Amino acid sequence: MTESSAQPPTAESIEAITISASAELDRLENLEAVDQWRVSYLGRRGMLTTVLRGLSSLEVEERRTVGALANQAKNTLEERLEERVRQINEATLTRSANQDRLDVTLPGRPALEGRLHPTTQIVREICSAFVAMGFGVVEGPEVEWDHYNFEMLNIPKGHPARDMWNTLWVDYEDPTGEQAMLLRTHTSPMQARVMENREPPIRVVVPGKCYRYEATDATHEWHFYQVEGLAVGEGITFADLKGTLYEFARRMFGEERQIRFRCDYFPFVEPGVDMSIDCFACEGDGNGCRICRDSGWIEIMGAGMIHPKVLEGVGYDTERYTGFAFGMGPERIAMLKYGIDDIRHFYSNDLRFLRQF
Ligand code: DAH
Repeated sequence: MTESSAQPPTAESIEAITISASAELDRLENLEAVDQWRVSYLGRRGMLTTVLRGLSSLEVEERRTVGALANQAKNTLEERLEERVRQINEATLTRSANQDRLDVTLPGRPALEGRLHPTTQIVREICSAFVAMGFGVVEGPEVEWDHYNFEMLNIPKGHPARDMWNTLWVDYEDPTGEQAMLLRTHTSPMQARVMENREPPIRVVVPGKCYRYEATDATHEWHFYQVEGLAVGEGITFADLKGTLYEFARRMFGEERQIRFRCDYFPFVEPGVDMSIDCFACEGDGNGCRICRDSGWIEIMGAGMIHPKVLEGVGYDTERYTGFAFGMGPERIAMLKYGIDDIRHFYSNDLRFLRQF
């Protein structure tokens, strides 16, 4: 082995190693080279380590002086090593500070500003129009029982009106075996849920998502929003319905709006109506108008006086209480208000569309 075959150390050989090691270290420019240097002088088999091992072959007196010199040399080289590492690190830092300097005069990257989805905006606008008239806002489940979506709304099994709603059924076994579960086809089931849990007077609007098994086109989506409304109390008449919805139309579409009611059929109201506003684009003129398709009128919602069967279903005294209900599609209202020609724009997540609102 090298260690055992080494010459016995002398003061001269130790000094020579120290001098050449220091000179070599000063020339090194990076940390990897410095580490190699450390291994070759101070490592387990390094030159100086070998010298220290050879001390045992010396006479006692000599061993003491040469040993002291060897230890001193080791300390010196260790100190130099530390110092060199520090210098190299500093030089690296200075270099990168000079070369990779941050250009603080570069223009910043614009922070993208988010905004509310147009449906959210219009739903809030609709709700606040009713809140201003004393209505509260509640929400309900999107996965609903047949019981609330149909039965409680006077649409029993086998009723032809079920055909008006193309329904997405949910694969779920009711433990009682009685009910089927579905994605609600409208927000009307919340009429029954709200009435079951409260006593009149009631005034609420219910915004929320609805689903239908539907082929999509420019005016149909398989999921969409509705805003339902419900008012129940003593002495509520069709005049209250008209007054409330007239006020709503003027708040949403302008002070000068006119409204029109025509008979329509919904199983849970009697009488049932559809409500139109006069066309705000052509001022009801109707000639060559895209928005109202030449008719001068635009249908915006269904409404009616709550059917006595619905009131009975939740245990209300129909001699004492009456009420009205209405339901509208906010996307359709937004389409009219902003001239959007295809309902599919709302949920296709195209920023070019969304950024316009
Ligand atoms: N739920 C009906 C639909 O989805 C809309 C509707 C019509 C709601 C008349 C009502 C109403 O509350 O009175 O077509």
